[in-house]
Amino acid sequence: MFIAGNWKMNGTLDQARALARALAEQLPAGAPTTALFPPAPHLTAVLEEVADSPIFVGGQDCSPHPDGAHTGDVSAAMLVDLGARGVIVGHSERRTNHGETDAQVLAKVTAGMQAGIGVILCVGETLEQREAGQAEAVVRGQLAAGLPETLSGDAITIAYEPVWAIGTGKVATRDDMSTMHRMIRAWLREHRPALAETFILYGGSVKAANADDVFAADEVGGALVGGASLKSDDFLGIITAAMNA
Ligand code: PGA
Repeated sequence: MFIAGNWKMNGTLDQARALARALAEQLPAGAPTTALFPPAPHLTAVLEEVADSPIFVGGQDCSPHPDGAHTGDVSAAMLVDLGARGVIVGHSERRTNHGETDAQVLAKVTAGMQAGIGVILCVGETLEQREAGQAEAVVRGQLAAGLPETLSGDAITIAYEPVWAIGTGKVATRDDMSTMHRMIRAWLREHRPALAETFILYGGSVKAANADDVFAADEVGGALVGGASLKSDDFLGIITAAMNA
């Protein structure tokens, strides 16, 4: 299992430090791989707080470019330089708020791979697409467009996050989750065999209270957690549920 906390654009520097410290101190022995994705200005502080724990830290996004005139962007190499070991790419909030295309997502995945950090590629359909019966086709399209065709030993994790479940309190049913996760597994085996065994995370309103149910779905290898990753007790509750799954 792999549990990732996406803090999005929340919190002060002091709050980031306190949350990271609490998690580093309270992470149970035998916890699954746990990663934190704080806002970029808080990365160094969070890295310092978790330095003596197995928690690893990543960026919420990276530029597709290695360097240059890209005001406001952060390169994958800069994340590595800080000590970050992962990056989230293609989150639906980036696709929606910043108009990120599949081609840009692919370029960012490639940039993360070239920098040698783990990439979490997010995919997921909107409510309209689900209601139109297109959910699986949309996710297949995002996988095909966002993943390089040639892969070998690259650390890429997939996060299935139905857009309508993010921050809404609505969670996909266990059946819908299982169907989608099985489809993603079969697609990876057929089209990206190097990723055949990679973790497929579920994301969208995961909290301690529903984590048991999420982890019971087929092919769910962990969670990408937004809101519930901002409180140590809630996030630790999800980690405990993963340990018991
Ligand atoms: P949420 O966010 O847990 O707040 O729904 C999940 C995500 O966007 O990664």
